[in-house]
Amino acid sequence: MNFIKNPKEILVQFSRWISDLDRRLLLLILLPILLFIYVSLLSINANTTRKSFSNFGPFKSIFKNYSPISHDDDVQNKTQPEPKKGPRIAVCLVGGARRFELTGPSIVKRILKVYNNSDLFLHSPLDSNTYKFTLLKKAPRIAAVKIFRPQLIPETESQLRVLTSQNSPNGIQGLLQYFNLVEGCLTMIQSYQEKNNFTYDWIIRTRVDGYWSKRLAPDNFIPGQYVVPPGSSYGGLNDRFGVGDVNSSIVALSRLSMVPELDSAGFTQLNSETAFKAQLTTRKVPYVTKPLPFCIVTDRQYDFPPARFGVPVAALSSPGALSGAKCRPCTPVCTGSCVGPIMSRLDKGWSWTEWANNTVQLCDAHDKWENGWEKIFDRVAGKKLAAVRKEVWSLKIEQCINDFEKLRNRTASWETPPVAEICGLGLKSK
Ligand SMILES: *[C@@H]1O[C@H](CO)[C@@H](O)[C@H](O)[C@H]1NC(C)=O
Ligand SMILES: *[C@@H]1O[C@H](CO)[C@@H](O)[C@H](O)[C@H]1NC(C)=O
Ligand SMILES: *[C@@H]1O[C@H](CO)[C@@H](O)[C@H](O)[C@H]1NC(C)=O
Ligand SMILES: *[C@@H]1O[C@H](CO)[C@@H](O)[C@H](O)[C@H]1NC(C)=O
Ligand SMILES: *[C@@H]1O[C@H](CO)[C@@H](O)[C@H](O)[C@H]1NC(C)=O
Ligand SMILES: *[C@@H]1O[C@H](CO)[C@@H](O)[C@H](O)[C@H]1NC(C)=O
Repeated sequence: MNFIKNPKEILVQFSRWISDLDRRLLLLILLPILLFIYVSLLSINANTTRKSFSNFGPFKSIFKNYSPISHDDDVQNKTQPEPKKGPRIAVCLVGGARRFELTGPSIVKRILKVYNNSDLFLHSPLDSNTYKFTLLKKAPRIAAVKIFRPQLIPETESQLRVLTSQNSPNGIQGLLQYFNLVEGCLTMIQSYQEKNNFTYDWIIRTRVDGYWSKRLAPDNFIPGQYVVPPGSSYGGLNDRFGVGDVNSSIVALSRLSMVPELDSAGFTQLNSETAFKAQLTTRKVPYVTKPLPFCIVTDRQYDFPPARFGVPVAALSSPGALSGAKCRPCTPVCTGSCVGPIMSRLDKGWSWTEWANNTVQLCDAHDKWENGWEKIFDRVAGKKLAAVRKEVWSLKIEQCINDFEKLRNRTASWETPPVAEICGLGLKSK
């Protein structure tokens, strides 16, 4: 008997034995396969092999019935049922991609990956940031993508009567653009449902510029209720997020096509939030508010401290649910007992948001984002999300085009300008 003296030697012996075994196994496996290929090639017309290798009958059938050798009987137990899927959910994502490198990864991680039977629908206007949607390659399932060149939407008489141009430099056009974005997403979902002969259990409506600090919890899916966040209600209902079944979502998302109905009901001078509320009340869709862990990342500048009808800007790092309040990555200037006095001055029916229990920390947002905001963001978001941000920033045009081609290949409905143009718009100068 060979006496093995030390562990190193055991290892050497062992690896020799393994590699011997490897060779024998390889031969054993390879021989029949080679024989099989040889016989198969003889029996078919050489012209067809090149074209349809994947449809090649014999290969198809062996690979279909082939299952890896396993000593675990459970794996091969065919009577075991398929793993159960959760409720069918359509996630409608609308808006421009401005800071999508910050918000996108959080949406993928905390909404799309949380619900294992959800499909993404993206509706967005083309601009120089559209290339950032390449990061959707990390999304588990994408049903439809529509990216369009922005166009002026003609204004109808009833729209001019019902909607207000207050707070908008472009008249009611800005409102119409936003409404079109939202309703277009509903249209995409409905057409996908018809094509595939099924209906979703839930539709989640959310925004490209939303940063999610925690996952969207399952208790926000309430039968018979449309769920929206509290606060930021501007005289109506917070319209920065919503979830409900298909029927109530049709009402909530029909933002353009319901205008004539609101007109008939006598509504005038509506902003986005009051129009949203009017849609639900006129169709008698019950709604409920629930705190939600996201904020709207904005580059806009706002006076600090905010006046009664001003806009508070929360730190992205705020500990609580911001329910769609505006935010940016900042070093908060106001925390703890400083927050109450400032937030209490805000009109409760306007830009106010829940701040009790230290949910909110405030930024002084009167200037552009502070130097070093990237580090602040990375620290708050964590390593994985920070890595995606950096990936997007270092993206090259060729990689961008390649990523989009891959995305397109797994998206049932793809309506966009040429991907070379999308990538070129944002990355040409880099
Ligand atoms: C495997 O299938 C048999 C019936 O063929 C069933 O009785 C048994 O419970 C199954 N085992 C598992 C682990 O599902
Ligand atoms: C999907 O999620 C549901 C809960 O929504 C769960 O019951 C189910 O086991 C999950 N299925 C898979 C395959 O992960
Ligand atoms: C659609 O699905 C229903 C049942 O879910 C079925 O009865 C019907 O035949 C299907 N229609 C088409 C066109 O496949
Ligand atoms: C949705 O509306 C359709 C008709 O508009 C109705 O047949 C269906 O029962 C409704 N579904 C639910 C869940 O309320
Ligand atoms: C704040 O915390 C207290 C105690 O946990 C709780 O009763 C109250 O509802 C909370 N307020 C808000 C607005 O979350
Ligand atoms: C996408 O699919 C087409 C044909 O279906 C194929 O030619 C192309 O190589 C695929 N592109 C990528 C990036 O997978």
